[in-house]
Amino acid sequence: MMKFYDHLFNADQLEEMKNEILNLRRENKHIDEVDLFSDCALGFGVVPSVDKHGEYLTDIIQKDFGREYIYSHSYARMYLKGGVLRPHIDKRDLDITLTVNIYSTVDKIWPIYASDTVYTGDRFSDIDANTLPNHHKFNIGPGQGAAILGTTHPHWRDTLECGEDDYYIQVFYHWTRMQNIPLHVFTAFKS
Ligand SMILES: [Fe+2]
Repeated sequence: MMKFYDHLFNADQLEEMKNEILNLRRENKHIDEVDLFSDCALGFGVVPSVDKHGEYLTDIIQKDFGREYIYSHSYARMYLKGGVLRPHIDKRDLDITLTVNIYSTVDKIWPIYASDTVYTGDRFSDIDANTLPNHHKFNIGPGQGAAILGTTHPHWRDTLECGEDDYYIQVFYHWTRMQNIPLHVFTAFKS
């Protein structure tokens, strides 16, 4: 299942998140992400003005996907020129990922693609997007988002083509299916 959300945040909320992320960048409080799945990206981890919306979004996600999905965490990322998201599935336990566009200096939409295919292979192996049937293309504008079952449906973005100083701010919210939450986490809640 995949779901597009047309209006998740208002202008003030987007502005608050954008400003906090830009401040963190100014203070060099980010990591350069160069890994198997993304290049030319800066990672900011859990940003308070982003993560505080987790509860509000959980209501929306649980209505559409089911109450067995428990909020895990958020993650903020800035993509720079040449940024790319190679076809992949998400880490085990991150059963739902909601991708939200916060802000971009680029005046064209940078779409994310996801396949209906239920992929059961190794997430680290090369997934050839051209062999995956039923692509969905999500044009996510500011304040909009797309939620997918990211551990089963391969998803990707093409290379971000833009000016040297341009950037694109995305945040991700993750939910874990209750049955996939490790037992020691429940034990920690109880103690
Ligand atoms: Fe992903």
